[in-house]
Amino acid sequence: MVNENQARRLVVLGTGGTIAGRATQPNDNVGYVAGQVAVSDLVAMVPALATCALDIEQVAQINSKDMVLGVWQALVRRVASHLDRREVAGIVITHGTDTIEETAFLLQTLLKPSKPVVLTCAMRPATALVPDGPQNLSDAVAVALHPQACGVVVVCAGRIHGALDVSKVHPYRTDPFDSGDTGALGCVEEGQLRMFRPWPPGVSQGTHDDAGLQRLLGASSLPRVELVFSHAGVDGELVRALLEQSSSKAGPLRGIVVAGTGNGTVHEDLLVALKEAQVRGVDVVVASRCAQGRVVPHAGQPLPDSAGLSPVKARLALALQLLEA
Ligand code: SIN
Repeated sequence: MVNENQARRLVVLGTGGTIAGRATQPNDNVGYVAGQVAVSDLVAMVPALATCALDIEQVAQINSKDMVLGVWQALVRRVASHLDRREVAGIVITHGTDTIEETAFLLQTLLKPSKPVVLTCAMRPATALVPDGPQNLSDAVAVALHPQACGVVVVCAGRIHGALDVSKVHPYRTDPFDSGDTGALGCVEEGQLRMFRPWPPGVSQGTHDDAGLQRLLGASSLPRVELVFSHAGVDGELVRALLEQSSSKAGPLRGIVVAGTGNGTVHEDLLVALKEAQVRGVDVVVASRCAQGRVVPHAGQPLPDSAGLSPVKARLALALQLLEA
């Protein structure tokens, strides 16, 4: 029998980021080193967490710009294993802001958890005069303990963003995320949640895409999918160089995501090279390089579109799809 207190147990997993960053001066919010402070020390900075039943684990200690498959595998493994524990109500993950949207997308795609998995972060290091990490961590815990919460979300600056919608849109503001046309799912005000939209759909543990999960956990690398931009003056030479590259540490080229202009249009010279890539068996997907909105599907589209995913999420989605092939 699980008692009320045990059922409200949370797991906090640390992966690094600015929230765990350290600068030599308290007024330095940019010249710090990310991923320095242990997640247990971050938790200790939030007095309100002292009364929570928490299991704390340091999964990684990196700047999230350096995210690699091995860290994703370790994180996915720990999240899946803790979700299986009946007494765990939810999971909080401290993460760098720079690739948090990719990690959130990966976790939601593979696990679609019916329990909340809440990623949080900071834009100022832990040593800052006024750090934003402790409040974000406290808000993330409030979300993870909410009885209706489910799915993978990102909590930052008092807002709750869905994993599929969120992207980082500002390099400095303490509220650097946006959820585009859909907007945030809700907000956290003084520890209380106010929801604007329904929670992302979750599936109970054991009914998620276990085959996809096992493929990711067993992979020695992700299929190589490159991201190219269409812009004024671009040509197809970068794509042709990729096609000509006979060997690479990352393996053979399997896919290309092109961040197209506007409604997913692509410069005519680049399009010729992308068509050559398709002929050579490379999967090509177009996303919009616009910060908001999606490619509106229309007849005669020269390339398949990313179904609304941003370029970085479309790259990950295609890599996961190719892992199945
Ligand atoms: C990182 O992404 O690890 C560094 C930047 C940040 O967390 O804001």
